[in-house]
Amino acid sequence: MEKYYITTPIYYVNDKPHIGHTYTTVLADVIARYQRLAGKDVFFLTGTDEHGQKVVQSAEKAGISPQQHCDKFAQRFKEMWEKLSISYDYFIRTTDAQHIDVVQKALQKLYDSGDIYKSTYEGWYCVPDERFWTEKDLVDGKCPECGRPVVKIEEENYFFKMSKYQQWLIDYIENNPEFIQPDFRRNEILGFLKKPLNDLCISRPKKRLSWGVELPFDTDYVCYVWVDALLNYCSAVGLYRDDEKFKKWWPADCHLIGKDILTTHAVYWPILLYALGIKMPRTIFAHGWWMVDERKMGKSLGNAVDPYSLEKLLGADRLRYYLMRDMVVGHDASYSLSGLVSRLNNDLSNDLGNMLSRITNMVSAYFGGVLPAPAEDIDSETEKLRSIITKLAEKVWDNVEKMKIHNALEEVNSAIRAANRYIETTQPWVLAKEGNREMLGTVLFTATQLLAKAGILLYPVMPQKCEELLHAIGYSGKITIDDARKYAVVEPGSKIEKPSALFPRIDIKKAEMSLGIVSSEKPQQKEVEGIITIDDFFKSKLVVGKVLSAKRAPNADKLLLLEVDIGTERRQLVAGLAKWYEPQQLEGKKIVIISNLKHAKIRGYESQGMLLAADDGEVVSVLTVDKDVPPGSKVR
Ligand code: MSP
Repeated sequence: MEKYYITTPIYYVNDKPHIGHTYTTVLADVIARYQRLAGKDVFFLTGTDEHGQKVVQSAEKAGISPQQHCDKFAQRFKEMWEKLSISYDYFIRTTDAQHIDVVQKALQKLYDSGDIYKSTYEGWYCVPDERFWTEKDLVDGKCPECGRPVVKIEEENYFFKMSKYQQWLIDYIENNPEFIQPDFRRNEILGFLKKPLNDLCISRPKKRLSWGVELPFDTDYVCYVWVDALLNYCSAVGLYRDDEKFKKWWPADCHLIGKDILTTHAVYWPILLYALGIKMPRTIFAHGWWMVDERKMGKSLGNAVDPYSLEKLLGADRLRYYLMRDMVVGHDASYSLSGLVSRLNNDLSNDLGNMLSRITNMVSAYFGGVLPAPAEDIDSETEKLRSIITKLAEKVWDNVEKMKIHNALEEVNSAIRAANRYIETTQPWVLAKEGNREMLGTVLFTATQLLAKAGILLYPVMPQKCEELLHAIGYSGKITIDDARKYAVVEPGSKIEKPSALFPRIDIKKAEMSLGIVSSEKPQQKEVEGIITIDDFFKSKLVVGKVLSAKRAPNADKLLLLEVDIGTERRQLVAGLAKWYEPQQLEGKKIVIISNLKHAKIRGYESQGMLLAADDGEVVSVLTVDKDVPPGSKVR
């Protein structure tokens, strides 16, 4: 069985997880799950980076020991990953004894081979970043990475001969285009390597910092935190401890990182590995940042979005979907609550959720909840949808292999939209009325196969919701890419159940309230309490109207134009019902409208009132009267 080894960065324990960390981990999880679906033997590693000055400072502030502090934060990460259905195989902590042992063995090897030497260091040090800089590196006298002040330092330290390997690294990167991805990041690193590399200071004197891995050849020093941290990728799979395991998993297939840590991964790490005689990982893939108001989301800027409250509001699956759908992997993306709400409402409530409830409702109404068989000869509309269904898995997989998860999701969504259009064109409710059972069976069978493909192909992103969806439509297979490649995976005769609303629509105001966001518009006292007087109620004049005609609004595909008799006159109403009703389904219906609403223009069409409809987040149902009262009757 082919293996696949994927890693996330190990996260610092001076911060609780925010949406940035969450993104990397969810992306790694989604890729790991896709690879498992393709039948590979996957090892997915994540963990925490627990040494360094900042840990000591945070622990001191909290009045606990550094180890207690690490235990507490490692636990927080684990809890968050559990909430978000992260299927990691191992969680490494750099304070694990096994890891420390590997770091010491690696350092000793480098020392023995002459790649580490002692020298006096004189230069600038950025305390928060724990990095040394030369005078030339500084930008306006400050740290070139974070822009914070630096301090002058002169001390004896150990150095790793990085410069010696510079040409080797340039050649390796040039000869292995897959090694650093996306391509523009590879060019960035090749640009960086045009300047001579300095040797890397790999020690910190214990008198300044003691929370680290002790150097095996000099107990007055601890190891630089990045050397310790990078080695996690090897120590987790058995380096110097379990040769068989190491041989099985190493080299890693994908180190997934944020662009902020590209140099350490694409320069320090390969050189360390090469000097140790260890093979290179296949790909280092750097993604972009989540931004808020054009600034990187992070603790130091105080704009971190809390995944705990988002998970509480949306559940894991919808949060995962948003993160995967709204970032073009490799580039930056902007986070906003309104963007999140409209993405989830459109893709999941309107498209996927609507399709699922339409199909399960119709199979239950017309076939007693048992999936009908398709006809042998099929029409051209069905043929078109079939071709979309059979090509979908390949398109999705192709994008997954290129790390274009957003495109993979868009492919699935566009197939769902095509299926919704197919339903509108074939009009199963008309087929039912006409008694055309054969064609009706074909339509419902075909649409169900599309739903099954969507359920399988979205499973890595939304594992729980997709399991529910697949169960509802009677799929009893194994959830594999192979199944997604077949045309029919739900057999005629399968039991179809109406599921509870899988993707209820999100109300932005309620979302803001649940996240504690203060909206710029101050709500009126009355709205907050939700209480109105009877006079308030009678301000709206509700009457019965009879729909005389209905048609689609040209150039506005969500809207229907209704001509309604309200007893005293005829009115034109514009209603966003095209997704839920075929125009002819509304003709002749007696509905309820607000007749004294100020007329409004909607997409260029005048609406002379508003009809009432119930909306459970997935299905919209127009209010009708159940006895034959004449148009114009008052509703109160
Ligand atoms: N401990 C180091 C990594 C060592 S790996 C051997 C570290 N940790 S970190 O806690 O700062 O996490 C960095 C990672 O979190 C980034 O590389 C990125 O994957 C993720 N993100 C943190 N903020 C982010 C955004 N605003 N947007 C997207 N991801 C970002 O660096």
